[in-house]
Amino acid sequence: MDIVVSGIRPTGHLHLGNYFGAVKNFVKMQHEHDCFFFIADYHSLTTHPTPADLYANVKRVLISFLAAGIDPEKATLYIQSDIPEVAELYLLLNMNAYLGELERVASFKEKVRLQPNNVNAGLLTYPALMAADVLIHKAAKVPVGKDQEQHLEMIRTFSNRFNRIYNIDYFPAPVAFNFGEELIKIPGLDGSTKMSKSEGDANAIYLSDAPETIRKKIMRAVTDAGPTQSDQPKSQPIENLFHLMKVLSPADTYAHFITLYNNCQVRYGDMKKHLAEDAIAFTRPFRERIGELEANNNYLHKVAVLGAEKARASASQTIKEVREIIGFRHI
Ligand code: TYM
Repeated sequence: MDIVVSGIRPTGHLHLGNYFGAVKNFVKMQHEHDCFFFIADYHSLTTHPTPADLYANVKRVLISFLAAGIDPEKATLYIQSDIPEVAELYLLLNMNAYLGELERVASFKEKVRLQPNNVNAGLLTYPALMAADVLIHKAAKVPVGKDQEQHLEMIRTFSNRFNRIYNIDYFPAPVAFNFGEELIKIPGLDGSTKMSKSEGDANAIYLSDAPETIRKKIMRAVTDAGPTQSDQPKSQPIENLFHLMKVLSPADTYAHFITLYNNCQVRYGDMKKHLAEDAIAFTRPFRERIGELEANNNYLHKVAVLGAEKARASASQTIKEVREIIGFRHI
């Protein structure tokens, strides 16, 4: 049984990218491994949310996790900031994280480009905090989407470096995990290659979206002028629509529209109508459970308390050992 860790930033309810890239595997893995899944609320502070937004979004992610099928009795489901040991390990790892390597991380460079007025130290050391999240439970496997691949590489760098410095085989070298398959990247509705909250709400379909919202978003998704010759290569927005259809629709619907595209007979409006109804059907059970859980604060509180207890037991053991290794000993 491997130890598994993964987290999600609290930016609202989960979207289909989060689901197919990560949470679907959380649900599968909880039966086979010792799993720790958490809400990365320390991480979300890099964008300076208001206290009210932070609280509401942590709750939404907790609800989405439960609605997606994570069983808090099986997996350890917790809120990152309930485990102060994570912050301590982050501090310790930061001492051996170097400016040059942190500045080269693609997600950091992108943030510098997108928000030049808020390039804070938390953004720079984001991979060290992720390393603390994973190493605090000495995890071997980290189920994530494609966009987290480079972060996992950094985690291994920090883990190996710690072992080398202290000449000890203590931390494992965790890997990004998708059951031996390529990591997943679900595209957005705006023609971009990644479904993402930061690209705006219209780009993503949320597990909580009402049917009418899903219909509107999909009908407005970016398309092109249509193919003019048979077997024409697809533009990015059309590739995206087909990708979404592949994960959400029955195989014969997908095959039908591929044939129409290749024969230049495709009508995007028609294709979108099918896709919208399939997306609505797919999200229905999640939407219903989200509605039920929203009304059940007592249960949510119980889940958070149980998760914090279980996660702290594991985290405090690691911190105790790490302090010993580093040389913090009782005098
Ligand atoms: P975050 O919150 O951006 O995304 C959470 C998870 O969802 C996956 N994901 C996607 N997968 C496929 N297609 C998409 N369009 C898509 N969008 C998001 C992400 O790959 C991720 O698995 N830094 C992390 C959170 C984190 C973490 C950790 C993860 C903090 N500490 C430790 C693993 C281990 C993040 O911002 O993910």
